[in-house]
Amino acid sequence: MSRRQEQGVISQQSTATASDLLRDLFVATRTESVARAAPLSDAEATIQSMPDASPAKWHLAHTSWFLETFVLRDFVKGYAPFDPAYAYLFNSYYDAEGDRHARPRRGMLARPALDEILAYRAHVDTAVIAAWPTLPPVARNLIELGCHHEAQHQELLLTDILHAFAQNPLEPALWTLPPARRPSAAVAAPGWVAGPTGIVGIGHGGQGFVFDCEGPRHKVWLNPHAVADRLVTNAEWQAFIDGGGYRRSELWLSDGWAWVQAEEIAAPLYWHGGTAFGLHGRQPRDPAACVRHIGFYEADAYARWAEARLPTEFEWEASAAALPDAFGEVWQWTASAYLPYPGFRIAEGAVGEYNGKFMSGQMVLRGSSFATPDGTSRITTRNFFPPTARWQFSGLRLAKDL
Ligand SMILES: [Fe+2]
Repeated sequence: MSRRQEQGVISQQSTATASDLLRDLFVATRTESVARAAPLSDAEATIQSMPDASPAKWHLAHTSWFLETFVLRDFVKGYAPFDPAYAYLFNSYYDAEGDRHARPRRGMLARPALDEILAYRAHVDTAVIAAWPTLPPVARNLIELGCHHEAQHQELLLTDILHAFAQNPLEPALWTLPPARRPSAAVAAPGWVAGPTGIVGIGHGGQGFVFDCEGPRHKVWLNPHAVADRLVTNAEWQAFIDGGGYRRSELWLSDGWAWVQAEEIAAPLYWHGGTAFGLHGRQPRDPAACVRHIGFYEADAYARWAEARLPTEFEWEASAAALPDAFGEVWQWTASAYLPYPGFRIAEGAVGEYNGKFMSGQMVLRGSSFATPDGTSRITTRNFFPPTARWQFSGLRLAKDL
């Protein structure tokens, strides 16, 4: 049973069984983070390549701080923090939790060393498991949130170390095995999946874990439209470049055109010649593979060049069940701004800062990528990044009006 299936079942089982499933999820999640960082030296886990990216060591510590703060501190009587200084070092953006180390300077934290952070993780894990029988339901809900929070950081750990390695002229490979190569035969033109027209239900309205921004479920009107049945490929993106895509102002939103010129952008991030840099180092590009490491402005310009458009997040959700590559390849930019659904309320307390306060200036991506932990993305999941963000595993599929 996949973790995704397990989560759907949790709420339908007896309390004892639900507790066991959650504990399994907790152990698997905590193990996966350490496994993802296992190839890294202390130095590699410490470096930070830009303000938006965090060191691997920081990801490992911050996800532990989240559990230590919102579960152990708040629900375990007499719990003593592993190190009182860590709350300042590893709080990300929770204003309710006080001052914190500046985000752009996370890479300055040569100490605590990686070994100490791994000891911190073990300390938190032991304390959570020891407290398990006495934790109230609200604390277990926070552990579940902590697991899904950590899953998000597991993907960020990979996108951030990739960006850091890309700054190194040696272009190190995180993973030593060559990537599984897809057939490089030309891919047929995409087919079109006609989506539902009229009033459709959007967002989460059932049982099982979701982030708060995935609801409330509500109704949206969809005009006649279709969504492409596959993602845009590297070969298609090369045709966009060859057709002057990055040099034709008429294809771009005004902000995007200014960005392309100011940053001298002419290809997806990590492209050079016929190669692309990735977690396996620099490799020849597979023309049939889906394009990745593009920002929203690029996705929007490509869609205009292709005489199509990006799907709204509602069109994406309404058709996702019919799309074979909706999940597990790349996150897909949509035409939708990251906004609250009707009836959305920010929860009280520090955990209420998780999503709601970021609903400004960001665009929604749907689906999941190859680096998203199994079962942690749903048909209602809303990822979000600023329109210039390119270091995520982000691509696109097209849509059109009918
Ligand atoms: Fe976080």
